[in-house]
Amino acid sequence: MNVYDGERMAELLAEQGISLAPEGEEADLVVLNTCHIREKAAEKVYSDIGRLRREDGTSPLIAVAGCVAQAEGEEIMKRAPAVSMVVGPQAYHRLPGMIAEAVDGRRAVDTDMPAEMKFDALPARRKVGPSAFLTVQEGCDKFCTYCVVPYTRGAEVSRPFKDLIEEAAKLVDAGAREITLLGQNVNAWMGEDSKGCSVGLDSLARELSKLADLHRIRYTTSHPNDMTEGLIAAHGELEKLMPFLHLPVQAGSDRVLKAMNRSHTRDSYLKILERVRAVRPDIALSGDFIVGFPGETDAEFEETLSLVDAVGYAQCFSFKYSPRPGTPAATMDGQVPVEVMDERLQRLQAALNRDQLAFNNASVGKRCSVLVERRGKYEGQWLGKSPWLQSVHFTGDAAIGDLVEVELTEAGGNSLAGRLLQAAHA
Ligand code: 5AD
Ligand code: SF4
Repeated sequence: MNVYDGERMAELLAEQGISLAPEGEEADLVVLNTCHIREKAAEKVYSDIGRLRREDGTSPLIAVAGCVAQAEGEEIMKRAPAVSMVVGPQAYHRLPGMIAEAVDGRRAVDTDMPAEMKFDALPARRKVGPSAFLTVQEGCDKFCTYCVVPYTRGAEVSRPFKDLIEEAAKLVDAGAREITLLGQNVNAWMGEDSKGCSVGLDSLARELSKLADLHRIRYTTSHPNDMTEGLIAAHGELEKLMPFLHLPVQAGSDRVLKAMNRSHTRDSYLKILERVRAVRPDIALSGDFIVGFPGETDAEFEETLSLVDAVGYAQCFSFKYSPRPGTPAATMDGQVPVEVMDERLQRLQAALNRDQLAFNNASVGKRCSVLVERRGKYEGQWLGKSPWLQSVHFTGDAAIGDLVEVELTEAGGNSLAGRLLQAAHA
């Protein structure tokens, strides 16, 4: 979502005549778009601010945007005098006004979470690559005990159906052939269709499928409790909905899941995956894991490993628990020592890497479409994604934005080689 927000900020500033500084050249203004999800990500902003200092001691105009801005607000102003603007993720449409003030030497913090929708204040989409993001929902009401998102991004809000169809159509006009629908709880998206009926994400995907030049639809990130019958069924029905599901589970032990306030169990999670696999047997599964949540015992961690074995994920993200100020878990008893977390993360990642390689190996010999996203390292080589979100490289006659037919010939942990069969769409 930060990528999406960054693109929207760039579009907004372009309207003010502020263009992107060419790579490697000095910028007059730097917007640091930040993440607060784990401590490491949040601390990065301060070292980045330090690195922006010029030799003569001056700095460009600096804006700190994103969730660190939201969470730390005035604190950033105190800690980093070089910063002149602090703007939260729901307020960045007001950045142009803040820049005008900053040019006159005034510093400002805007971390309002207004009822007004920032999206209405943003300009139309411009040129985009073949794979584009579209935020459909923001915020979260789930309050997992480790997570800052409900505090930094605010309550769950869905963007209107009509606005999304319009923005998607503009993205496709601008060159997008794949759209990934984004939200902290994307499958909790709700809207009203053109007939005034209340609908969920499956209906939005169905409507988007009608855009002729849009070939692929994805969505991320989902919560198990919002995996509706309709959305599961859509995976069996909608050809353009890619066979990939990112469904974080976080842990394999019911006691830990309860302490995390996940409101699903190991079993209810596995049952959802079973139902999805029943309608779309080739679906690639993905998830997020946290190791070392407060109180997690060795035996409970083993339950995470056994869940991984039971699922056979195609790819995953895994993290050491990071205490976030203001969240309930930060003050829970039984904080796990970092050495224990390190060891657990290593074991978990070894299992996940093993499964990822196995998934990729099992793809060898398959024929599939690849959406070409960019040139490869070598002359005539192209890089793109398979339907299962694997990186695929191949050589031959193609262009960025093509959807080509490829036979997968070789697999590694992070990518596959393919042989070009034919260009499916010129
Ligand atoms: N510590 C470690 N990982 C976290 N995540 C969210 N909060 C924390 C935290 N405090 C992870 C979860 C979530 C992903 C986006 O980040 O796995 O799904
Ligand atoms: Fe955070 Fe996701 Fe839980 Fe919401 S559902 S609190 S975003 S981990």
